[in-house]
Amino acid sequence: MNATQTELDFGTRGVVRVVPDGEALARAAAETFVRATAAAVADRGMAFVALSGGSTPKRMGELLASDEFRDRVPWEQIEVFWGDERWVALDDPQSNAGEAMRALLDKVPIPPSRVNPIPTEVSEPEVAGFMYATQLRTVFGETDGVPRFDLVLLGMGDDGHTASLFPGTAAIREQEALVVAHRVEKLEAVRLTLTPPVLNAGREVVFLVGGAAKAATLKAVLEGPEKVDELPSQAIRPTDGPLVWLVDEAAAAALSRATDLSHAGGG
Ligand code: 6PG
Repeated sequence: MNATQTELDFGTRGVVRVVPDGEALARAAAETFVRATAAAVADRGMAFVALSGGSTPKRMGELLASDEFRDRVPWEQIEVFWGDERWVALDDPQSNAGEAMRALLDKVPIPPSRVNPIPTEVSEPEVAGFMYATQLRTVFGETDGVPRFDLVLLGMGDDGHTASLFPGTAAIREQEALVVAHRVEKLEAVRLTLTPPVLNAGREVVFLVGGAAKAATLKAVLEGPEKVDELPSQAIRPTDGPLVWLVDEAAAAALSRATDLSHAGGG
């Protein structure tokens, strides 16, 4: 922890590391990626990572592709999956995998065979979900257990969703399937998502949350009553290891235990 980082312990709901701003958030995320993948490769020869979608991870990806970070990552020993995907083609700007390839993976020496996007080119979302679950089992060599990622990166929407576990959807409570393909009514769109058992099996599970728009929801998720169906981010409870929230000051502003941060930070 450095001088510009404050750590808040919210028990089973996780440890919150507060950094000054969006750039510091991206940098902290990139450093986490470097550390977690290097540790996994040192321990087990490979690092299995689930990337999140949305806009928050974009700057982290740019940093990881930069001269400052690129050569610190064991790209040849990394398998990349995604926590969720929109039902769009890879070349669509809405594609989580497509955007990660364009911002990061096409710019680093990761073997293409180790990049595992959800196959949205197939005919039906359910087929894509089945194929993705099969790919997970094949790559992890897990015939009937739950694949255990070394690093799971997650974002949180201002409605409390994470991955594509949206409020009021049955996927939040899914305990058997590894992947769910479902229509999210509020989006009027189909999404595919890893389920809580997979996300919670991660050795390191890290949320990246930035911006004032997330502040009220972050407070509700961390400090409010447990209501997983309304705040699916509360479904993320790693089975073995801490849940870490990397957040910027704007997103942390409503946390009652971070109130004094503005004085400490002089902000
Ligand atoms: C997606 C996600 C989603 C995302 C949150 C936060 O496909 O959109 O994976 O869970 O992480 O919506 O998105 P932002 O980073 O854009 O705020």
